[in-house]
Amino acid sequence: MRKIILVAFLGLSRAAFAADGMLQKDCASCHNITGPVAQTLKEAFAKKGPDLSYAGNKYRQEWIASWLQKPTRIRPAGMYYGDHIKAGAKGDEIDAATLKDHVALSKDDATAIAAELMKLKPHDDLIAKEKIEPGTITKQMGEMNFDKFWGCMACHLIEPEYGGLSGPELYTAGNRLQPEFMASFIRNPQAWEPKTWMPNKELPDSSILKMVRYLEVLSKEPTNAQ
Ligand code: HEC
Ligand code: HEC
Repeated sequence: MRKIILVAFLGLSRAAFAADGMLQKDCASCHNITGPVAQTLKEAFAKKGPDLSYAGNKYRQEWIASWLQKPTRIRPAGMYYGDHIKAGAKGDEIDAATLKDHVALSKDDATAIAAELMKLKPHDDLIAKEKIEPGTITKQMGEMNFDKFWGCMACHLIEPEYGGLSGPELYTAGNRLQPEFMASFIRNPQAWEPKTWMPNKELPDSSILKMVRYLEVLSKEPTNAQ
């Protein structure tokens, strides 16, 4: 009996074991790690941080490891725009005093946690449907699609102070996110987050590809490389 338990423990490397414990202890109070994702508006509003239960299908591992050592703000107005807005001279302004900094981890912890999060892949099926053919797009063309054609600017920043404030900033998306995830989320946000505020605009394949290429172009600008 003792031998069997020992073998089971050895199967999980010591770093992975520690990282898993840390996720449960230090992160699960704000992040959903085990799934399922929020199914009702009440659950969606109660979220204290982005869902991490599909992290392995979404993020770039090296980005998680480096961001956790030096976290920067990604959602300019926090999880919920309405909670962090005050009236300003030129309309609504972000009330930065109400936003808290994210906990930072040591290099070893961040690396171990990033590896652990990458194991969470409940949506390989959605990712497998996306084919990102190599190619590029000019910034002007990309912006025209993003703003004029599809209205994405209403909710997303495409420069540090240019664009909407209710969604995550997108000028760093290419550094943070896997291209197949971006494509799949743009195709059908509700397949990932049933109660997300992002609308499904029913983009055709060619437009989805243009968006992904545009976000990758934006992230390669020297000022956006974080
Ligand atoms: C007090 C609540 C809280 C705790 C505790 C917390 N986080 Fe977060 N986390 C957040 C919020 C809020 C964001 C969104 C930050 C932003 O958009 O600027 C976030 C963002 C993240 C992101 C980036 C995801 C994305 O899509 O923006 C990762 C990765 C992450 N947290 C991992 C962790 C890990 C690992 C731990 C435990 C060591 C942890 N967090 C603990 C609240 C928390
Ligand atoms: C009404 C506001 C709104 C509009 C319009 C909108 N989005 Fe979003 N978008 C969001 C929100 C909110 C999220 C965060 C998803 C969540 O966790 O619920 C998001 C997430 C994303 C993500 C994933 C980013 C991340 O870090 O999680 C991408 C990529 C994205 N949007 C692209 C687009 C594109 C392309 C368009 C135009 C076709 C668009 N969005 C239009 C609100 C919007």
